Amino acid sequence: MLVLGIESSCDETGVALYDTDAGLVAHHLHTQMAMHAEYGGVVPELASRDHIRRVVPLARACLADAGRSLADLSAIAFTEGPGLGGALLVGASVANSLAFGLGIPVIGVHHLEGHLLSPLLATPRPAFPFVALLVSGGHTQLMAVRGIGDYEILGETLDDAAGEAFDKTAKLLGLDYPGGPTLSRLAMRGDPARFTLPRPMLNSPDLDMSFSGLKTAVLTLVKSLEADGQPMDDATRDAVCRAFQEAIVDVLVKKSLKALKQTGMKRLVVAGGVGANLQLRAALDDAAKRRRFEVFYPPIALCTDNGAMIAFAGAMRLAHARAPGGYTVKPRWDLS
Ligand code: KG4
Ligand code: ZN
Repeated sequence: MLVLGIESSCDETGVALYDTDAGLVAHHLHTQMAMHAEYGGVVPELASRDHIRRVVPLARACLADAGRSLADLSAIAFTEGPGLGGALLVGASVANSLAFGLGIPVIGVHHLEGHLLSPLLATPRPAFPFVALLVSGGHTQLMAVRGIGDYEILGETLDDAAGEAFDKTAKLLGLDYPGGPTLSRLAMRGDPARFTLPRPMLNSPDLDMSFSGLKTAVLTLVKSLEADGQPMDDATRDAVCRAFQEAIVDVLVKKSLKALKQTGMKRLVVAGGVGANLQLRAALDDAAKRRRFEVFYPPIALCTDNGAMIAFAGAMRLAHARAPGGYTVKPRWDLS
């Protein structure tokens, strides 16, 4: 079975081909980051228009790379939601019209299910059941995943998502959009001993989290440094970034350990854009060795939005005969 996957929920046009025998056979991505940078954030109308420009050439490039033609496709999967309405409609329209023309099934995929299953595209592949730490720009959730479509939310952020906290903190430190990855790069150079920031809800009895206070704590720290007449030189800024990253990683690791303990599961899967964070990966790898559990990540390039995860989730849905079809988009949509 050969599935074409289309992701267009936000500022990345991702197209990929997943073959249930050969695996991921082609994968192309166009990021609109540079286009949105001058506005300091994603402009929905510009995003939709750019998806329209990119999606067909990217699909053609995938077919050419894999040496396949439209006639070889078994199904088309697209991101049905959540995301920007206009952007989602581009993927939905292309997927539905192509599938209609070819007479093959079309599958609307939940964007978070795509992220959640993306570690299954890596080798070694985690077996079910597992705890998933889903950390993206829009969501931060711990989930019990017992099989395809069997997802239970164990805990989640009560306010900002982890990626959102990275991006907002980067903005208040004057870093260029998109700030999350830049902040994390500067953090690796920062002195970890210079500042300490609070760990919100670290010891709460549940698996919920909260990150908006951390951003405020960074603002308070920056203001107090200014009031003391301390210059915000590169070393100081990098140390602030480090303190922020230490706090967020600490919370994510402790809550993941708690979720493993609570469910009795022995496998942790990390997905979503913040899963690319090297300090988070190092801390989880270290905890896995000490606590004897296994931890799995998607390939770094498939942590952030991409078409491969949508093609893969679509293929899994088809294999499990639970393929919702139809020409709809759901800008707001809960996974479980
Ligand atoms: O999963 P994703 O591509 O989009 C959503 O579905 O939200 O995640 C994007 C988020 C952004 O907030 C970005 O700042 C964050 O992932 N991100 C990172 C890193 N790379 C991307 N955050 C921390 N460290 C990174 N290396
Ligand atoms: Zn995403």
